[in-house]
Amino acid sequence: MNRSVFAIPFIVALAWQCGEPSFESAEQLSSAEYESLAVDPKSAEGFAAESLNTFMAFKGDLQKRLIGAIKEKGAPYAIQVCSVAAPEMEEKHSNDKQTIYRVSDRPRNPEHRANEFEDAVLKLWKSRMEAKKEIGPVHFRTKEAEYVMNPIPVQAALCLQCHGGAEIKPETRQAINELYPDDEATGYSVGDLRGAFVSKRSL
Ligand code: HEC
Repeated sequence: MNRSVFAIPFIVALAWQCGEPSFESAEQLSSAEYESLAVDPKSAEGFAAESLNTFMAFKGDLQKRLIGAIKEKGAPYAIQVCSVAAPEMEEKHSNDKQTIYRVSDRPRNPEHRANEFEDAVLKLWKSRMEAKKEIGPVHFRTKEAEYVMNPIPVQAALCLQCHGGAEIKPETRQAINELYPDDEATGYSVGDLRGAFVSKRSL
């Protein structure tokens, strides 16, 4: 019999105790009931609520900077803004209690590669998207840390200027290649899952 079957009562018991489910391994997380992780932003409290507020602020900041830079000087220049501004902003929005960052299963910046727990969540979201089910923020624990994650979809054609296929202009492509020789973050379409915002605090 599949080991995950034995894990279910254990996960349910923990979820009941601490409010969010706890996982020993990424494998366990990948076979979890999505509903047990999902957070309703309207009723989120504590660390989950704080994290969701920070994601909103981060996202607003980033989009403003990106749109401004593209308008002013074009996409190849905006890449420079993005590569400097995003890490700066990750730092700005983090504090001694939480670290805020972005991850992807196909990162541009190799430092943004999802760890195995984050990757399991990306996969859960993707399989729901394929089944045309809603996705949203999740909240869970591992032995080491507490995580809140929010999906980042490719929400607009703007993203395709740097993450699409034929939409990427040659000069943009060249600028990306120079800064990110191991880039995996192209070939997306509007509506795809690009990655996630993560808020993490050590336990
Ligand atoms: C001007 C080019 C440009 C545009 C437009 C752009 N990005 Fe990016 N994106 C980048 C660069 C450059 C990085 C790497 C930044 C870094 O090093 O931190 C990146 C990184 C990311 C990451 C972090 C994971 C990774 O791959 O490193 C996510 C998530 C992301 N972009 C999503 C989006 C979304 C969603 C949009 C549309 C709203 C968008 N991007 C528009 C250039 C762009």
